[in-house]
Amino acid sequence: MLIEGLTKKYDDKTVVDSVTFEIPKGKVLSLIGPNGAGKSTVMGIISRLVARDAGLVSFDGKDISKWKSRELAKRLAILTQSNNIQMKLTVRELVAFGRFPYSGNRTTKEDEEIIDKAIAYMELEEFQDRFIDELSGGQRQRAYIAMVIAQDTEYILLDEPTNNLDIYHATNMMKIVRRLCDELGKTVILVLHEINYAAFYSDYICAFVDGKIAKFGTVEEVMTKENLSQIYRVDFEIQEIEGKPLSIYY
Ligand SMILES: Nc1ncnc2c1ncn2[C@@H]1O[C@H](COP(=O)(O)OP(=O)(O)O)[C@@H](O)[C@H]1O
Ligand SMILES: [Mg+2]
Repeated sequence: MLIEGLTKKYDDKTVVDSVTFEIPKGKVLSLIGPNGAGKSTVMGIISRLVARDAGLVSFDGKDISKWKSRELAKRLAILTQSNNIQMKLTVRELVAFGRFPYSGNRTTKEDEEIIDKAIAYMELEEFQDRFIDELSGGQRQRAYIAMVIAQDTEYILLDEPTNNLDIYHATNMMKIVRRLCDELGKTVILVLHEINYAAFYSDYICAFVDGKIAKFGTVEEVMTKENLSQIYRVDFEIQEIEGKPLSIYY
């Protein structure tokens, strides 16, 4: 996926400014940065939920701007920051939603098998007939991920998937994200607040400040003490774990 020169203004304020990056297939990219830095707007533009003022998003060299929404939904799934579905749905009904781009409301036998697999992959079999508002935060988040898995897209965008989760469930969610990439071959773009999760579980980092990319590169390139303290003016203590990923305390 190639993002070139994305720009978005609200009134006179430029909230996304000439954002350009590329993510290789089968990798995890985290967008980090303070509130209001434009991360969700970038995710919205990529998934065409937000109209851009300038720039280009292309998959395999093809501009996606004119694609039918169903075609785009077969290639890209997004969980937005609020991911509120204001309907009384069971886990199974929610996951079945992921098949909508393919079959509409009428699921086929093949769809049902894909739904079964997605529910099993997220270990939600025993909860599948429960309403999503009767689940714990961690279980509900897994149900949404199961929906995204059933959508069977190459690209998965998750806006703050660890939001409102305690450290146990947040770590579990990050491990799931890693498995989406390592086991299922997905290309994942995340928004994360916790830069230690971003450092530990992603391959690439895009560090945002005021709608612009302050730094883009591999975890090893971006997540250095010099970079982070320069970009975000915070003191970090960085620890290497097993020589590679970094754990960051601040
Ligand atoms: N629909 C909107 N109308 C006006 N301003 C918006 C809208 N959506 C976002 N913004 C503004 O754009 C900026 C970037 O927002 P956002 O992309 O949500 O940031 P982040 O996800 O990094 O916290 C913020 O200043 C926000 O207030
Ligand atoms: Mg946001």
